Amino acid sequence: MKKINIAIDGHSSCGKSTIAKQLSNHLGYIYIDTGAMYRAICLYALRNNIISDGIIDEELLFDKLDNVSVSFEYDKANNQCRTFLDGQNVESEIRGLWVSENVSKISKIKAVRQKMIFIQREIGRNKGVVMDGRDIGSVVFPNAELKLFVTASVEERARRRSLELKDVSFEDVIKNLKDRDEDDSTRKENPLIVSENAIVIDNTNMTKEEQFEKVLEAYENAILN
Ligand code: DC
Repeated sequence: MKKINIAIDGHSSCGKSTIAKQLSNHLGYIYIDTGAMYRAICLYALRNNIISDGIIDEELLFDKLDNVSVSFEYDKANNQCRTFLDGQNVESEIRGLWVSENVSKISKIKAVRQKMIFIQREIGRNKGVVMDGRDIGSVVFPNAELKLFVTASVEERARRRSLELKDVSFEDVIKNLKDRDEDDSTRKENPLIVSENAIVIDNTNMTKEEQFEKVLEAYENAILN
């Protein structure tokens, strides 16, 4: 069977990774969560005082960037990804509010994006990759055979996210999501856009099963072309 690259972009906490995992399991493809890469760099910056009081020392980050390693493992049995920062499993730490509140300051830096995009393209060189993020269809793989743009209302996304973040108030979650939507869509470097030929999936009122049916249909069409 012909292998393709699948780009999944969209707003924060809209279920991109659910689709990406379903597809990669179904097709036997590699799954890459590119947001985790930016989160890991953010954690590195926070731990090393490269971000302090919300201000980033961009020059220092630039100097250190080439020596930071970010890698992944996918645990198929438990359907879970693990992100490693310099060999340490940081999967749970990168999901916390400390990183979430600071990560868009990192992901807007051109030098950081260039490094991440280079790594992402290397991974996708031989096809058979499902990658989710914000700029996958528009910048990383503009020729991806299948591009999806996933979204849902901000209230529904906050409701889902609140179930995961038990000790954070709903108001804080919604504020964080709105801020990130704004940052992602208005930043200068590779903002979140609906890229050309992307299929838009608004899953506000969809079950995971309904959504996957739609996605599989899009995949079948893409593979025929
Ligand atoms: O998807 P996420 O919330 O884990 O993403 C974390 C941050 O990284 C968020 O600020 C968006 C940004 N990001 C990006 O700019 N480009 C990507 N390809 C993936 C994520």
